[in-house]
Amino acid sequence: MIYKSLLKPIIFQKDAEEAHDLALKISSATNTSPLLQELASILYGGGKNVEKQFWGLNFRNPIGLAAGFDKNGTTPKAMEALGFGFVEIGSITAQSSHGNPKPRAFRLPEDKSLINRMGLNNEGADKIVERLKHHNLSIPLGINIAKTNDSSIHGNAAISDYVYSYEKARTVADYVTINISCPNTGEGKTFEDPDILKSLLDEINPSGNSVPTLVKFSVDTEIKALRKLVEICESFNIDGYVATNTSSQREYLNTKSSILSSIGNGGLSGSAISVKSDEVVSNLYAMLKGSKPIIGVGGVDSIESAQRKVDAGADLLQIYTGLVYEGPGLIRKLKNGVNFR
Ligand SMILES: Cc1cc2nc3c(=O)[nH]c(=O)nc-3n(C[C@H](O)[C@H](O)[C@H](O)COP(=O)(O)O)c2cc1C
Repeated sequence: MIYKSLLKPIIFQKDAEEAHDLALKISSATNTSPLLQELASILYGGGKNVEKQFWGLNFRNPIGLAAGFDKNGTTPKAMEALGFGFVEIGSITAQSSHGNPKPRAFRLPEDKSLINRMGLNNEGADKIVERLKHHNLSIPLGINIAKTNDSSIHGNAAISDYVYSYEKARTVADYVTINISCPNTGEGKTFEDPDILKSLLDEINPSGNSVPTLVKFSVDTEIKALRKLVEICESFNIDGYVATNTSSQREYLNTKSSILSSIGNGGLSGSAISVKSDEVVSNLYAMLKGSKPIIGVGGVDSIESAQRKVDAGADLLQIYTGLVYEGPGLIRKLKNGVNFR
């Protein structure tokens, strides 16, 4: 209520990234202040907690923060206070990066969606992992890793770059997500190429490690390609999947095409990708036959859209764009309203 009637009208006056920076500032302040955490918890915490156990971790409830909101790990305690059952930090990369030139985040209010081409801006694995070393979270902490956004890093160097972040992340994370589906880097989505994914997982050697390791797919992954990628991941004993990342396509949109072309490239998130994302979850579920947990993400912004994702096969859910349009009240609403399997 407070968010939609008071804060959102002010925040939406700002450019999308400035609004995000403000939200991060408030969340980071809350992260270090027990008093603000108490306040956040009074305003937004509570609700029905349906506990889940996956990978030996206890999820207080199945609603998590998706990667991209907190790329530098400055807000996890604040997110716990808001009522999330888990948080995913990142994407972090081996080297720090300023990301792509601004503007790089845009709202599509008619579609309750966003387009972003942030380009993996983050402070780099060393600094972020150091920051998270002494976290006192009581919910699982996921760290999402990607390749440094620098097209001069390719081939074996690109694989070493990922491995560096993985080795760092696993020292503090409860689970690590390998993001092979970022649409916003110069070289596109090379790690969704089956041979390259194989080489990457060979080096990362997830089954030789104790940290649960997940792979995150794009919403644009066609069923045939998905089958091939899952086959590879399963041969490396990947522990679970995150479906899905944003879309490079422009489907299911009411926003005028002139506006879309003035925005240009970027990953589409939010309500517009909900149906396609459900399809990927459902295909994944059919392929895995329920053998591995799936984190469903993409266009969850209501009880109905969350329920569709669960019914498609998601064991846990994550939200990002829904938070922008609905505010943190969405977390409790989903906890109270969704029937989890
Ligand atoms: C501004 C923005 C930045 C994002 N950055 C990342 C990222 O760094 N790594 C990642 O795996 N996903 C990233 N995502 C994708 C989200 O984690 C999520 O997969 C996608 O937005 C679909 O969920 P949603 O519709 O709830 O936003 C980002 C999304 C947005 C909107």
